[in-house]
Amino acid sequence: MTKIALITGASRGIGLATARLLAERGHQIILTSRHEEALSEAADRLRPFAPGLCHCAADVGDPAVVARLMSFIHDQCGRLDVLINNAGGSHHVAAFEALAEEDWNQTLNQNLTAVARITQAALPLIRQASGGSIVNVASKAGRHRTAMAACDYVAAKAGLIGFTR
Ligand SMILES: NC(=O)c1ccc[n+]([C@@H]2O[C@H](COP(=O)([O-])OP(=O)(O)OC[C@H]3O[C@@H](n4cnc5c(N)ncnc54)[C@H](OP(=O)(O)O)[C@@H]3O)[C@@H](O)[C@H]2O)c1
Repeated sequence: MTKIALITGASRGIGLATARLLAERGHQIILTSRHEEALSEAADRLRPFAPGLCHCAADVGDPAVVARLMSFIHDQCGRLDVLINNAGGSHHVAAFEALAEEDWNQTLNQNLTAVARITQAALPLIRQASGGSIVNVASKAGRHRTAMAACDYVAAKAGLIGFTR
C-alpha cells in the first residue's frame, strides 16, 4: 500500500529534499510550509517525481491552523503513515543578554512546541495507519556545544531531542 507522508517546512532546504526522496521511494507526499507561493513552486518542481502530491499552506506554530491541516489530511487521505517534523530554524543571533523574550518564545514555539502540537494532532491519523513513523529534525546544536548557535535555538533543539526520546 502507498504510504502517505506529511513533510513540514517542505518548500525548500532539507524539507524539500526529504520530500523528493520519499516521493522517489513511492510515498504519496503532502507538503506544508507557510507561504503559498513558494510552496506551490516547490510542489510544481516535485510533481514529476510525485504522483498524487498535494500541498496545504500552514503555519505549524498556530494551533488552529494545525487543526485545519489535519482536517485536510483526514478528508484527502483518511490516515497518515509518516510525519516528518522538519519546519524549524534559528533567526536570532543576539547575545543572550540582548535576546528579547518575544524572540525566545518564537524560537521555542517553532522548534519545540509546534512539533509537540502537530504530533499530538496527527496521532489519530497515524493510528489509522499500520505502523506509522514520526521523524523529528533536531540539530547537533541540541547535543553539543557549538560556537555559532544561538542559545534559544540550542535550548529548543535539546528539548526536541528529549521530547523525541
Ligand atoms: N540547514 C542546516 O544546516 C541545519 C542543521 C541542523 C538542523 N537543521 C534543521 O533542519 C530543519 C530544516 O532546516 P533548513 O535549513 O532546510 O531550513 P530552511 O531552508 O530555512 O527551510 C525551512 C522550511 O520551514 C518552513 N517553515 C518555517 N517556519 C515554519 C512554520 N512555522 N510553519 C510551517 N513551515 C515553516 C519554511 O517555509 P516558510 O518560511 O514559507 O514557512 C521552509 O520551507 C530545521 O528544523 C533546522 O533547524 C538545519
